[in-house]
Amino acid sequence: MRAPDTGSARGKAGALEVERIALELGGQPILKDASFTVVAGEFIGVLGPNGAGKTTLMRAMLGLLPLSKGAIRVNGAPVVRGNPSIGYMPQTRSGLAGRHVRGRDFVAMAANGHRWGLPLANAATTRADVDRVLDLVGARTLAMRPLSELSGGERQRLLLAQCLLGDPKLLLLDEPLISLDPRHQTGVVDLVRSVQRELGITVLFSAHELNPLLNSIDRVLYLGNGSAALGMIDEVITKPVLSQLYGSPIDVMRVNGRIFVMAGDVEVDKLDHAHEDSPKGHSHSHDHDHAQGHGHAHHHTGTHSHDV
Ligand SMILES: Nc1ncnc2c1ncn2[C@@H]1O[C@H](COP(=O)(O)OP(=O)(O)OP(=O)(O)O)[C@@H](O)[C@H]1O
Ligand SMILES: [Mg+2]
Repeated sequence: MRAPDTGSARGKAGALEVERIALELGGQPILKDASFTVVAGEFIGVLGPNGAGKTTLMRAMLGLLPLSKGAIRVNGAPVVRGNPSIGYMPQTRSGLAGRHVRGRDFVAMAANGHRWGLPLANAATTRADVDRVLDLVGARTLAMRPLSELSGGERQRLLLAQCLLGDPKLLLLDEPLISLDPRHQTGVVDLVRSVQRELGITVLFSAHELNPLLNSIDRVLYLGNGSAALGMIDEVITKPVLSQLYGSPIDVMRVNGRIFVMAGDVEVDKLDHAHEDSPKGHSHSHDHDHAQGHGHAHHHTGTHSHDV
């Protein structure tokens, strides 16, 4: 399906151009023919049922997965692995709650991981960048405490700080709201929105539920049935577009400023959404991401403890 094209995309630079791509995993088609253009400075909510390919698409943007066809351009250039202009928060983040490493050191580990293969940054530069990102997310003080003493929402702040190291222009945040209660969810969305505006960067933010994002996103990218639709909420979250993306009849209900996507009398984004911080989540293959230098070195458990 062609993405609904909207006025806001016209005449501006494409931060992310996806042109007729197909993606496969283990011989299975995940996306068959998806095209859309995200404009620089947009905050995009990425939605779609479990298995629709949200994570896979982000991995393709990072160059971690080859395209079977089509092209992706990031800021006008073809995808490359380890692109320093992209910050990435992977979906699988299990085990952080049990870590006793100080928040600040946890963020700094990623600063060092980020520069893997590049000339070693000097300690003062790293320290300044860590200070910068901690200030951006308002976590200077809480970063003095160990991860194990922080709430889920506070840990999320530090993960966001990690993604901002090195000053990326595009952030790919994969399910930052998983396992957070509604109050913390709103806090995380508001924080990402304010940082995104302050820095003028582009953000793709995947989520299982649209409602926490409703007041913050510029447009929505909805994946399903091997294709994608990008547009304003009112253009995409509609009966015809979603019925095509789900491959079955979908109803859209609006109640008190909230939107409910229903298949029959079941709310689809409440289906089958396990908390993926648990070991049974989609931990397949995503763990490899951690070595790719996108600013998230938290799998290097306790090995580096640079005091910056
Ligand atoms: N290595 C693999 N081989 C075969 N299929 C895979 C592999 N990795 C993932 N898949 C399948 O690819 C599909 C897309 O997965 P992906 O993780 O991108 O979906 P998602 O939209 O992020 O889902 P979720 O909402 O659960 O995070 C799923 O059906 C998944 O089971
Ligand atoms: Mg996913």
